[in-house]
Amino acid sequence: MGRQDLKGQIAIVTGASSGVGWQAAVRLGEAGVRLCVTARSEEALARLCQDIQAKGGECIAVPGDVTVQSDVEHVVRECVAHYGRVDLLVNDAGVQSYGLFDELPWEHITRVFDVNCFGFMRFARAVLPHFRRQGGGHILNVQSMLSKGGAPLLSTYSASKHATLGWAKSLKLELTNTDIHVSNILVPSVSSNMFAHAPTMFSRAPKPVPPTYDVDVVARAVVRAARSPGKTLVPVFLQGWLILAMDTIVPFVGDFILGRWGKRMQMREQPVNRREGNLFQPMPRVMGPYGPVPATPRWKRFSATAAIAALAGGAVLGAARLARAAR
Ligand SMILES: NC(=O)c1ccc[n+]([C@@H]2O[C@H](COP(=O)([O-])OP(=O)(O)OC[C@H]3O[C@@H](n4cnc5c(N)ncnc54)[C@H](OP(=O)(O)O)[C@@H]3O)[C@@H](O)[C@H]2O)c1
Repeated sequence: MGRQDLKGQIAIVTGASSGVGWQAAVRLGEAGVRLCVTARSEEALARLCQDIQAKGGECIAVPGDVTVQSDVEHVVRECVAHYGRVDLLVNDAGVQSYGLFDELPWEHITRVFDVNCFGFMRFARAVLPHFRRQGGGHILNVQSMLSKGGAPLLSTYSASKHATLGWAKSLKLELTNTDIHVSNILVPSVSSNMFAHAPTMFSRAPKPVPPTYDVDVVARAVVRAARSPGKTLVPVFLQGWLILAMDTIVPFVGDFILGRWGKRMQMREQPVNRREGNLFQPMPRVMGPYGPVPATPRWKRFSATAAIAALAGGAVLGAARLARAAR
């Protein structure tokens, strides 16, 4: 699939009231995409549209909940009624709930799936009839590095993202020989609001598994993926290509690190009592669209890359030596 000109394309962006979705809408607007943004928080969506319009872009806000079928259909209907068509769906809305698997309330487990997995599917089913009629379109899914790997305290979130990636890969195969494309972005930890409003079963505020990247890293990847549909994009090296390679070659290194320190890595000092968070109702954005945990400075990312690469290299050499000695 060749490079697409985004100017004048019509996009629905879900999860646009905060974090990645917000910034992706801003970047798509700058690229000339005409936007229909959605999430539950009306006020935040209105502010986003104002920002985009102030820069000369076009934007309408249609609030809705991705777990409510009629809301999803309403968003797509409003988009098509306003712009006459829809070319791109950015599936971004997502939630997580921190807890040991056997201590998470069952309603959290089903809700995480309902938003992260069924929400993506509902929106895809709502736009597909339009794509088929138009003879083309693009479903771009904001996935996670946890669509491939795992992390303690996030078993349900990770399961929902694995499921969504499996669904997206199969959908892509079904759409072979059509001009409807499916793309995925495997997102690393980013400094979004997720960590300011995700529920947790613990008394300390959650934080992303380091290193953490700026949300704009993903927003720019969304624009790249929108221009070249049909790919699975990994936008960063350290919490991206390197981890995927290590998972294939020396999976025990990541397992050792996350098994031993993964829980502690995901907790801040800040005390918190937030057992529901934004799971069932949106929470006010005290920090604006971006989150409370700053992106990891570049020098720290480089040092961590070197340390992990050395650890992985050492593990490979050690395993090779053991194998030779055993022969
Ligand atoms: N942050 C990370 O480190 C990270 C890492 C990997 C992947 N991701 C993925 O990136 C995507 C965006 O996350 P983010 O980090 O930008 O988090 P965020 O700042 O918490 O944004 C999540 C968005 O989803 C919306 N949302 C939540 N529940 C919804 C519902 N039931 N119906 C409609 N909208 C709903 C929220 O808006 P309302 O509350 O207004 O509805 C918000 O706009 C997610 O798919 C997430 O899984 C994030």
